[in-house]
Amino acid sequence: MKKRILVVSSANIDFVQQVERVPYAGETVLEAEGTYEYLPGGKGANSAITFARLGGDCVFTCKLGSDQNAGKLKSLYKAEGIDTRFIYEEPGRLTGLASIMVEKTGKNRIIVYPGSNAALTKEDIEEPFNCYPDALFVQFEIPDEAVLEACRIARIKEIPIFVDAAPARADFPLKELGSVEIFSPNESECQTYTGILPVDETSALRAAIRLSGMVEAKYIVIKMGSAGAFLYDGEEYYVFPAENVKPVDTTAAGDVFTAAMTYSYVQNGNIHSAIRMANIAAAISVTRPGASTSIPTLAEIMEFRNSAEANLEDAEE
Ligand code: ATP
Ligand code: RIB
Repeated sequence: MKKRILVVSSANIDFVQQVERVPYAGETVLEAEGTYEYLPGGKGANSAITFARLGGDCVFTCKLGSDQNAGKLKSLYKAEGIDTRFIYEEPGRLTGLASIMVEKTGKNRIIVYPGSNAALTKEDIEEPFNCYPDALFVQFEIPDEAVLEACRIARIKEIPIFVDAAPARADFPLKELGSVEIFSPNESECQTYTGILPVDETSALRAAIRLSGMVEAKYIVIKMGSAGAFLYDGEEYYVFPAENVKPVDTTAAGDVFTAAMTYSYVQNGNIHSAIRMANIAAAISVTRPGASTSIPTLAEIMEFRNSAEANLEDAEE
């Protein structure tokens, strides 16, 4: 039977601008060839959609506003097959919005206006656990009190906790998360928490060891962008190179990676195969524009893996 994953996190509308380059201070740039779009995003929603597209049983808790975006997003989540019973709407607040500039290289710059995400309270968190989840997945784009309450209840229910440690704040009370199964930041988040920017195996190991003194985690998995991922299990470390693709937009790659890894790990308990699957899911997502619009299905991941294996066999012959 499929394990049920409860996502307690954020939802945004992404205002996405395709730009040749970001302007300097005081400069106006005319983007004659560029485009802009409003697309579904938010770290929590991107993760919930990843679970759903992989075929998972996902219950999503977040707080939307009382605007038109709220209704549109909730319908979209339902259409994806996400359980939306515990999605709240906050009167008088706007739904969260992320302003995203994507350069030709695929690199992005993001500013998040939390809106209704900021109104998710400790009191909102108990009810969603009535869905009897098998695992909890959290990110830090909602108030700390909501994250910590979700972890507290998960500990009482004795279900594993998975943490996508984004966005990062140096003063986040990591110790209060308690014991977690996987703690997963990207490179810059790792630097915010530890002061060490992982750029190679040596610095990634130093950062992972420092992190393991800051948060009680069975596995630390650092997302290393085009360098793939780095796993530390408290004794050994492993490097998982990224898939070879041409990125057009890396927005949500981190969300897709951590959700795909969590989904696979929750189903079969193998961290190595979970990271390999996550690398493929995230690699596919960087070849497509947008956040939730870029998320692959399980069939697409399988197809990618089969053709990568076939190419490898051809090269070896
Ligand atoms: P976001 O915050 O926008 O969700 P992120 O910065 O947290 O993304 P990254 O660390 O850049 O995410 O990447 C996450 C994962 O995506 C990597 O661990 C890797 O698996 C995959 N990835 C990212 N960039 C590339 C790339 N250029 N080629 C192949 N895979 C990539
Ligand atoms: O991780 C990508 C997401 O970060 C975007 O969808 C945006 O909404 C911000 O939350």
